[in-house]
Amino acid sequence: MKTLTENGLTAAALERLANAPDARIREIMTALIRHLHDFVRETALTPAEWKSGIDFLTAVGHLTDERRQEFVLLSDTLGVSAMVDLVRHRYLGRGTASSLLGPFYRPGAPELPYGANIAGATPGEPIKICGWVTDGNGRAIAGAALDIWQAAPNGKYDIQEDDSTKMNLRGTFRTDTGGRYEFRSVKPNSYPVPNDGPVGVLLRAQGRHPYRPAHIHFIITADGYEPLITAVYIAGDSYIESDAVFGAKPSLTIAYRKNDAADEDATEPAQMIEFDFALVPAVPTLQVRSQRATKPARATKRSRNSHRARKTAQKD
Ligand code: BEZ
Ligand code: FE
Repeated sequence: MKTLTENGLTAAALERLANAPDARIREIMTALIRHLHDFVRETALTPAEWKSGIDFLTAVGHLTDERRQEFVLLSDTLGVSAMVDLVRHRYLGRGTASSLLGPFYRPGAPELPYGANIAGATPGEPIKICGWVTDGNGRAIAGAALDIWQAAPNGKYDIQEDDSTKMNLRGTFRTDTGGRYEFRSVKPNSYPVPNDGPVGVLLRAQGRHPYRPAHIHFIITADGYEPLITAVYIAGDSYIESDAVFGAKPSLTIAYRKNDAADEDATEPAQMIEFDFALVPAVPTLQVRSQRATKPARATKRSRNSHRARKTAQKD
């Protein structure tokens, strides 16, 4: 029997994966064990700190149920959800950038006519939101479905209100034959992600605020295209550069502008947002997997060196 050194322990844990029947599980567990062991070595984690981490994860688990997903919130605030999304889109190619789904999506939002208002009697500053849905080559996509949801100006989604059974500030729209969509609402506001649990404690321990910049969520689907889960962010929001869950992106940020139609029609909102979406053709899962096999996320030292060597050789 060998005495395990720090590096020998990692090697022994990795060897135990040799018989994992699923190659992908083996790949993921190998990387996870390697990174976790590196993390413990790098930080010289003490037993007391390890125990705090276990207690923290236990508290996250205790708070999680069908209504509250504290694990997803932890992943969101650590930037892991946004990273998964970025990596997925590495394989999907061009098209409008994606953004986080978040915990406030509700399937079954009412189908509303072109141009309808999703805000009902919600107090707030009215706006019009419109644009094109295209295939990324300028060809309009008719009949695309846009599932939309947003927080009220008070920063709350309908499911966070006392009567959470009522749907508000949600709707499903279709693009017209020219690929245009249009609806009306009220200006969204920035809001804090749930921070009354262990994730809130961790945010404060890191000296971080819990706010997301004002945004409107979209899920856009059309036959033959990848579904697009995204959000449009309001330029100038105080939290646009420091989104607590790393979802805001420059390409998804848009400023309000004057709605010229309001000059003629007093019922029109004075301000509007015009934002166009581009979908990418559907990619079979098999293709994504085979691309992943040829594009490792992080080069190993050896492959980085050989890459450098190849580049030098190309220059010579
Ligand atoms: C949201 O935008 O609804 C959201 C996303 C991630 C965490 C919390 C909220
Ligand atoms: Fe949101």
